[in-house]
Amino acid sequence: MAKKTVADIDVAGQRVFMRVDFNVPLDSQGQITDDRRIRLALPSIKSVLERKGKLILASHLGRPKGKPDKKFSLAPTAKRLSELLGVHVALADDCIGPAVVQAVGQLKPGECLLLENLRFHEGETKNDPDFAGQLAELADLYVNDAFGTAHRQHASMYGVPEKLGPGRRVCGFLIQKELEYLGRALGDPAHPFLAILGGVKVSDKIPVIENLIKKVDTIVIGGAMSYTFLKAQGKQVGDSKLEQDMLAQSAKLMSAAQQAGCELLLPTDHVVAKELRAGVETQVQGPAIEPGWLGLDIGPATAAEYAGRASAAKTVVWNGPMGVCEIPPFDVGTRIVAQAIADTDCTSIIGGGDSAAAVQALGLEDKMSHISTGGGASLEFLAGKPFAALEILDDA
Ligand code: 3PG
Repeated sequence: MAKKTVADIDVAGQRVFMRVDFNVPLDSQGQITDDRRIRLALPSIKSVLERKGKLILASHLGRPKGKPDKKFSLAPTAKRLSELLGVHVALADDCIGPAVVQAVGQLKPGECLLLENLRFHEGETKNDPDFAGQLAELADLYVNDAFGTAHRQHASMYGVPEKLGPGRRVCGFLIQKELEYLGRALGDPAHPFLAILGGVKVSDKIPVIENLIKKVDTIVIGGAMSYTFLKAQGKQVGDSKLEQDMLAQSAKLMSAAQQAGCELLLPTDHVVAKELRAGVETQVQGPAIEPGWLGLDIGPATAAEYAGRASAAKTVVWNGPMGVCEIPPFDVGTRIVAQAIADTDCTSIIGGGDSAAAVQALGLEDKMSHISTGGGASLEFLAGKPFAALEILDDA
């Protein structure tokens, strides 16, 4: 899906509406705990400002219920963006309305205004044509650099470029990079191609597994979802977390993998404890987990096997931790796998969310080819779902 980018449009003196994903995590004091999504939008932002466009930035933050809620104000992101750009970025009180029209009218070439949270209006998530029209009237050109939101057909993602029409809607450099890495992995990957999937629920990953089975040579599975697969094979998983209603589906996925010639590996040993708590007594058990014990991480033999697979691969896609990685010592499997991916020169693509956070926490960010800024978006992309918000952008 090759799209025109912000580099392909003449922005000088033009009002440029740029949809970014500044939906960043905040702590209880409202401080940003991870500004990666803001940092990675900077190349597109700077490209417009340096070429003297009048930049209107728009984003959502959290899930306010279609009306203003201070808790979800974009004020912290305006502050962080100002620090990163070294110029003050004003935050409008709203994203539509007369005051916003006036503020946009006063923008000088090379200046930038951040609109307040789009989701303070219910028209955003409903892709309401009137709301989209009011946003579109603010701008001459549209740039979408919000990959994290690309799976949402919301007003700022779809309605605005629809209103502006062809010749005026392009993607930013972040979306270009996401499409390049994720798109190549699905379309033209180097083999052996390994998918490492973890996390709690099989139910979250069914479409991804169904799609990847057709693309990859091997899928290795960790995290709590592996216990559902093992149980479906009739193995003993003790008191491990399970999705009982996913047993039949898991069996179906395993037989689909077999039919497609895709190797699907499950953990052969496990780090177990009697309860989930830091510092609790642990054992390594396997292949069976005894009654009364919970599987909380992949065991050392499994970690070594998965790390070996990563070392031998030419393309690795990883989504989801191998254990309860936020509570040591159940982070060891995730760390071993992350390090193995970092140590190879394969194309490594890290799906967003927990696996991206784990890679960052380990300081391995620079060792990966690409860490997606999408959580849900990267999962849906890997599941092969079409993204209307990207399809509508001008083709290269
Ligand atoms: C995300 O963080 O995954 C994106 O910003 C999308 O947020 P949403 O799931 O609330 O639409």
